Amino acid sequence: MTFEKYPFEKLNILLKDVEANNNFEASSLTIGEPQFDTPQFIQDELKNSTSLLNKYPKSAGENYLKDAMISFNTKRFDVELQYSQIIPVFGTREVLFNFPQFALFDIKEPVMAFTNPFYQIYEGAATASRARTIHLDLTKENNYLPVISDSELKTCDLVILNYPNNPTSATITKVELEKWVQKALEFDFILINDECYSELYFDESKKPVSLLQACNSVGNDEFKNCLVLNSISKRSSAPGLRSGFIAGDKSILKEYMKYRTYVGCASPIPLQKTAAIAWSEESHVQGFRDIYKNNFEIAKEILGINIPEATFYIWLEVKDELKFTKELYEQKNIKVLPGSYLGRNGIGKNYVRIALVENSVKTKEVLMRLKDFIDSY
Ligand SMILES: Cc1ncc(COP(=O)(O)O)c(C=O)c1O
Repeated sequence: MTFEKYPFEKLNILLKDVEANNNFEASSLTIGEPQFDTPQFIQDELKNSTSLLNKYPKSAGENYLKDAMISFNTKRFDVELQYSQIIPVFGTREVLFNFPQFALFDIKEPVMAFTNPFYQIYEGAATASRARTIHLDLTKENNYLPVISDSELKTCDLVILNYPNNPTSATITKVELEKWVQKALEFDFILINDECYSELYFDESKKPVSLLQACNSVGNDEFKNCLVLNSISKRSSAPGLRSGFIAGDKSILKEYMKYRTYVGCASPIPLQKTAAIAWSEESHVQGFRDIYKNNFEIAKEILGINIPEATFYIWLEVKDELKFTKELYEQKNIKVLPGSYLGRNGIGKNYVRIALVENSVKTKEVLMRLKDFIDSY
């Protein structure tokens, strides 16, 4: 099995022989990892739960964690879930990698489609599943919404959407998601929306929607063929806690649960206790939203970008993204991620991804430096 090199590895190779300008502080805008302390109440809960380390965790997860996740879905999306419709997971990355292998295992020539550019685990999962891949290209011209013919869609066994989107920051409307639900029912494929960034929005009147809401609004109340993933990593600035969930179609989840028992990805009980607290609390998330919103306002002022509805990424159009990345590092000691490392078939070319995951002081300083560079590029 051969996997594509990870984007950060490609970046290290690109910059290996480039000497950064050490007159400036080294700044990295590459990684989608919030650079803020995990809130104290979450850290305290973890410290207070260590006595639970003497128990094997159950693969299915503890009910109090499921309750917290169910209640999150009710409050945030007005979606009611039963225990059979949700599984707590050890961060969504592991699901994105192993779910396709589970779902496609019995299919002779599986076909998996996903948005392009993408979070690279989707591609790794397709490789591990021996699936033929269909790239759902996201471009400025199609408003970052996939266009695919019915004849192609009919061949799909699994489709992964990712809205709010990494790296383009695009969002999708409920109406668009409803169309996807209809297609998943009509052509009988499994439809996943990776909703990891759903909580990083900046306008209360434009909160990102969930695929589960779209299911409800077209009368697919059992979420047939549909699943969502969500995570605490970005929401609570706690990527190290490893807490997420997969929710939706209970007949798929029942079999997937059996598979997971063998995978051995159960979350340690102290982590489950802590995650339950974090999923149940909202004011700390508002605090993070305010920080990201402020960062985008700074970026708008300095770079003149439009503020997206969600995420913490700027998908910046540049000429020759590899040259841009190298020269920016050389002249200003700033690292960004070339868009072409995140896409295939030319998608992402002439773009770089910039993650605004630092505090406002650092963000302002580094974006001014970036602007200086752009003006002379
Ligand atoms: C689109 C997307 N999905 C999933 C993940 C994985 O998140 P986690 O495994 O921390 O839940 C990430 C992380 O960067 C991501 O960008």
